[in-house]
Amino acid sequence: MISLKSKHEIEVMRESAKRLKLVFRELKRSIKVGMTTLEIDQKVERLIAGQQAKPAFKGYRGYPACVCTSINEEVVHGIPSKRKLKEGDLLSIDIGLIYNGYVSDSARTWTVGKANEEAIELAEVARRALYIGMAQMKVGNRVGNLSAAIQEYVEGQGFSVIRDFVGHGIGRAMHEDPQVPNFGKPGTGAKMEVGMVLAIEPMVAAGSWEVDIMEDAWTVVTRDHQLAAHYEDTIALTENGPQNLTGPQQYEKSTADQFQLGVL
Ligand code: MF3
Ligand code: CO
Repeated sequence: MISLKSKHEIEVMRESAKRLKLVFRELKRSIKVGMTTLEIDQKVERLIAGQQAKPAFKGYRGYPACVCTSINEEVVHGIPSKRKLKEGDLLSIDIGLIYNGYVSDSARTWTVGKANEEAIELAEVARRALYIGMAQMKVGNRVGNLSAAIQEYVEGQGFSVIRDFVGHGIGRAMHEDPQVPNFGKPGTGAKMEVGMVLAIEPMVAAGSWEVDIMEDAWTVVTRDHQLAAHYEDTIALTENGPQNLTGPQQYEKSTADQFQLGVL
């Protein structure tokens, strides 16, 4: 069942999302070569607490941390560890928080220092794919149109979309209906209405979309070990169209120097 949010609920979700944006902004400043992903998690835990919010991931189905840190061939759900960030790594950071009873969920893929062209391009395609999906959030349109638009764009760039994990509705629970795949057929799926709030999250692979789950039961890696990128925002469909609660409203192409750290 899809829960449509009232205007008031969307305002509360906007407050929740604003806090997540601040967490990302602060975090981005502190990420450095040599830092461990566990240190990132500790930093995120403090930043979330500083926003009078609670981590949405910790304890979710037994997940042990506040953040997912997925490096290079890791797609999503990487568990923070003693692994140190290296120059050239492609780092995806996924954070969810709960504020005033509402969840916001967002992910960014950043390059650590200078990275190769393909890593930069993959991160850029994942980010742009989110905006292409967001543009399909129109009253009466179907979720399958959004899915198909993302798939068509990503595959047109020569990359693939992950099939085994999908975006989702979001609100009081992190995962609500409907599912929001990054692949699909136009004219299928739920009809969109004002009050729908979706976490759109393109997961893009440089090679094949096939994935494996590691022994830790969480970390998702590409089967061919090629690079993957992930970008996610919480987006509300309002009377004035889609509003990106956790990120910039408009896509803008990033400049080369922004990619030394990635784009928010
Ligand atoms: N953004 C991810 C999702 O939508 C985060 C889930 S990680 C988990 O599924 F640990 F909380 F499951
Ligand atoms: Co999500």
